[in-house]
Amino acid sequence: MKIAVFPGDGIGPEVTAEAVRVLEALRLPGLTLFEGDVGATAYRRHGHPLPEETLIMAREADAVLFGAVGDPACDHLERALRPEQAVLGLRAELGLFANLRPATMFAGLEEHSALRPEVARQIDLLIVRELNGDVYFGAKGQRVTESGEREGWDNMSYSESEVRRIAHTAFRAAQGRGKKLTSVDKANVLETSQLWRDVVIEVAADYPEVSLDHLYVDNAAMQLVRAPGQFDVIVTGNLFGDILSDQASMCVGSIGLLPSASLGERQTAHGTFGLYEPIHGSAPDIAGQGKANPLAAILSAAMMLRHSFGLEEAAAKVEAAVGATVRDGVLGADLGGTASTKEIADAVLARL
Ligand code: IPM
Ligand code: MG
Repeated sequence: MKIAVFPGDGIGPEVTAEAVRVLEALRLPGLTLFEGDVGATAYRRHGHPLPEETLIMAREADAVLFGAVGDPACDHLERALRPEQAVLGLRAELGLFANLRPATMFAGLEEHSALRPEVARQIDLLIVRELNGDVYFGAKGQRVTESGEREGWDNMSYSESEVRRIAHTAFRAAQGRGKKLTSVDKANVLETSQLWRDVVIEVAADYPEVSLDHLYVDNAAMQLVRAPGQFDVIVTGNLFGDILSDQASMCVGSIGLLPSASLGERQTAHGTFGLYEPIHGSAPDIAGQGKANPLAAILSAAMMLRHSFGLEEAAAKVEAAVGATVRDGVLGADLGGTASTKEIADAVLARL
C-alpha cells in the first residue's frame, strides 16, 4: 500500500499531517508513505506547481493523499504556473474522471447547518462530479475584438464517451445506495447539457432499478437548500459539481467536513487507484494558526482505505471515530468551537 502524500499549500500541510497520523495509528501492514511537493510550495522549490518528480511519484503509488493548493501570492503568474494547475494536472494526467463527494449530516451538528435543523437532518447524499472535462479543460484565452475590446473565452464541451463513463459510475453508486439518481445540467440553454442529458437517459436503460430524474442546475441549487432530503446521488459536470459541492458543505455545517475521492480506471491490488482530498481549499487566511478542521482530510483518508485498498472495516472505523468526535462536541472554530486542528485529530485517535 504505497501512498503518495502531497500536502500542498496553506492549511493543506496541517490537515494532511493529521490524516497521516490517523492512517499510521491503524497499523496497517505494508503501509508506505512518501511525500511530494505540489502547488505554490512546489513552484517555489522547483519552478512548477506539478513537478515531474511529483507526477512520477503519483504514478508509482496506489493512492494519493492530497492536501490543498492555492496561494494569492501566485495570482499574477501565467495560468500554467498557478498552484491550482497541480490538482488539475493530476486529475488530467492520471485520468481521474470520477469525483465522489459525499455529504452526510453528522448527528449533533444540525444546529450548525446553514439550514433549519429539521431540514439539515435529512441530508445524506453523494455528488458524483465529472472531473476530466467541461469548461475546466476546454481551450480558453483572452483576445481583443475588432472593436478593440478585451474578451475572455472558455470552451465548454462534453463528448459522448465522457458522459457515458461518469453516468455509469453514478448509476452504480446509486445502485449501492438509495437507487435514486438526479442528473443536473442546464439543458434549457447549453448544447453541452443537452448531449449530457441525452446520454444519461441512454445509459439509464442499463439500470432499470435506479430511478432517474433531471434538474436544471439553478433549480438543483434551490432544491439543495429547500429539501436536501430528496437527493440520493447527484451526477453532474465539472463546473456545476464544483459549485454544488461547496453549497452542500454549508448545508451540513462546514466545508471542513467534506472529503472526496477522485477515481479513474486504473486498478490496484485491492481496489481502484485514486486521489483523496478534502473539498476545501488552502484557506490562506487561517494557515499556520492551528485552526483548520482536519476532519475532511481524515475522512478523505477513510475513503482511500475503502476505494483503493478494499479496507471497508478500517474505513468505517475511522468514520465512526469522526462521528463520535463531532457528537461529543469536539469542534473547531469553523463550527463555533475552540478545539485546535491537533486537538480534533487527537479526539479522533482516542475514539479509534
Ligand atoms: C475543488 C477546487 C478545485 C476545483 C480548484 C482548486 C481548482 O475548488 O476541488 O473543488 O475547482 O476543482
Ligand atoms: Mg471547489
